[in-house]
Amino acid sequence: MKPLQRIQSLEDYQRVYDYSVSDPEAFWAEIAQSFVWQKPFTQVLQWDFDGPNVRWFEDGVLNITENCLDRHLPQKGNQTAIVFEPNRPEEDARSFTYAELHQAVMNFAQVLLNQGVKKGDRVCVYMGMVPELAIAVLACARIGAIHSVVFGGFSAQSISDRLIDANAHFVITQDGAFRGNKVIPLKSVIDEALLQCDFVQKVIVLTHTKTSISMLKDRDVWWEVEIEKVGQAHVAPAPMNAEDPLFILYTSGSTGKPKGVVHTCGGYMVWANYTFEQVFQYQEGELHFCTADIGWITGHSYIVYGPLLAGAKTLMFEGIPTFPDHGRFWDIVEKHKVNILYTAPTAIRSLMGFGTDVFQGKDLSSLRVLGTVGEPINEEAWHWYHVNVGKSRCPIVDTWWQTETGGIMISNLAGVTPDRPAWATLPLPGIQPILVDEHGNENHEINPETGFVHGNLCVKFPWPGMLRTTYGDHSRCYTNYFATYKNLYFTGDGAYRDAAGNYRITGRVDDVLNVSGHRIGTAEVENAINRHLGVVESAVVGYPHDIKGQAIYAFVVCSDHTHESEMIRRDINETITKLIGAIAKADKIQIVKGLPKTRSGKIMRRILRKIAEGELDHLGDTSTLLDPSVVDEICTERL
Ligand code: PRX
Repeated sequence: MKPLQRIQSLEDYQRVYDYSVSDPEAFWAEIAQSFVWQKPFTQVLQWDFDGPNVRWFEDGVLNITENCLDRHLPQKGNQTAIVFEPNRPEEDARSFTYAELHQAVMNFAQVLLNQGVKKGDRVCVYMGMVPELAIAVLACARIGAIHSVVFGGFSAQSISDRLIDANAHFVITQDGAFRGNKVIPLKSVIDEALLQCDFVQKVIVLTHTKTSISMLKDRDVWWEVEIEKVGQAHVAPAPMNAEDPLFILYTSGSTGKPKGVVHTCGGYMVWANYTFEQVFQYQEGELHFCTADIGWITGHSYIVYGPLLAGAKTLMFEGIPTFPDHGRFWDIVEKHKVNILYTAPTAIRSLMGFGTDVFQGKDLSSLRVLGTVGEPINEEAWHWYHVNVGKSRCPIVDTWWQTETGGIMISNLAGVTPDRPAWATLPLPGIQPILVDEHGNENHEINPETGFVHGNLCVKFPWPGMLRTTYGDHSRCYTNYFATYKNLYFTGDGAYRDAAGNYRITGRVDDVLNVSGHRIGTAEVENAINRHLGVVESAVVGYPHDIKGQAIYAFVVCSDHTHESEMIRRDINETITKLIGAIAKADKIQIVKGLPKTRSGKIMRRILRKIAEGELDHLGDTSTLLDPSVVDEICTERL
């Protein structure tokens, strides 16, 4: 059985999976050889999780854009690569063929070179969902610069934190971005961020919303003006070592500030392409619509790199699912004849609230595969999606993965291995999950009552797309992912496994929240709240929310109780918005006199979590608290 071939059946999957585990090096070497290498690799894998030190295809030289673009030109030059659906449906959709995209990427790569960007430089990209965002990312990769895309919803402070951490001297942005009825003033947010970052040398600004902005002499240049100067450029794909960084993407953890997850040129490429093809079973000529933003890993892997590596047609949507009305996704499916729709449970749940009338008269017959990602999907949402969108005939791939994993890790394969509501099901070939107890011992025992094993989800063997480090601080990578359990990558998630080896992900077991599919660290939100004048200390936990999955509950101790609490709450959320972004705003803020602490001063989050969830009868043992009476008070005043 050749690993490269599409898996065709459950039996086939089993054979391929067994091979990937029994001889991983041979398995991945065969797959990796199908790419264009400027210098072929001779070594497949070196690894230990103690460093960690993981190297795939180490002595190979390649450029991912040669594999995304150049290699498709002979057969697919005139075929569509990117379809762009603008915010307003009445505006014309634009599209790029592979030949056009190739040229556009080379032109912008030349602009980057002209602005002084060199191989290895970090380039921050802060843009809306326009095709130029994909072009900017690919142009960085073309010349070997390391892109770091920052989601358009993050605040100026978050951007400067990231610019400083990555020591990025270049920024690519646009005047503004359209989102429904709003214009997001991206360039002015960048201007504010750069007040703290005078090391930034150049800002390249795309005109899009025509919002009036100010341009700083010698620092800011216009995208269009610079593109005009280069004409039809030819920029050869820079020779990159397989282990050279391709991009940094910041994500939240259980402690401290967001960390820069680093993905590499070779392994990430192989993983993004392999997972895209096997999971979605993309067929020639189909259109793939992933509704994520390129500011997140899902957009990197399944809007840009995965589809383009596979020579597929990928759709980029600028707007939001509820503009001009809540039927927008279905209008896009009908208009462009979308075949694969990949979205998040939170989007499904919010659209469920509008009922099913919106489907009347809409032709969704082009759909073949549906997908979900980002958080556990509840069965009700799964069935709604299955019946109303997939008309009970499209398989749903429930894809579990993370920023750190680069691509999908556990998922059914569309139409090939069975789907099952709320279950991500089987690990992809090459992925060796393991469930452990809190001491790191493997859990084997199936609970006879449930029929499942439960435990903390880890992975015991490397895969090509895994993170290699956290930018600028390798020890943090070790502490975050490899120190909890010896020789295991710890995901931070809990999971069930049944006797047939299917996984159901239950969600985070650490201090990371998942709000509308966005990952937010409780420590990050607490740090922001604590910066607010008048706040003594705070504790943040998550609680279940019908649409968002999880929402934020903040318990805050203030120095002065005389102020009106409504005003304090509003101010606190404004502080969070300023320091992180509106996505991290607290849904509930309870002003309390004290927090439940142990005698050693540790905040007992377990108790606060139960209070936030409304489980007041299941608070557990409170006798070890320094002052158990605070708990009663918090319970009485619970929001
Ligand atoms: O808790 C898991 C949840 O999202 C986390 C990863 O978040 P992030 O790095 O932002 O990446 C999101 C997109 C890949 C995981 O630790 N998660 C992701 N997909 C699923 C999921 N939980 C349950 N089921 C999923 N399919």
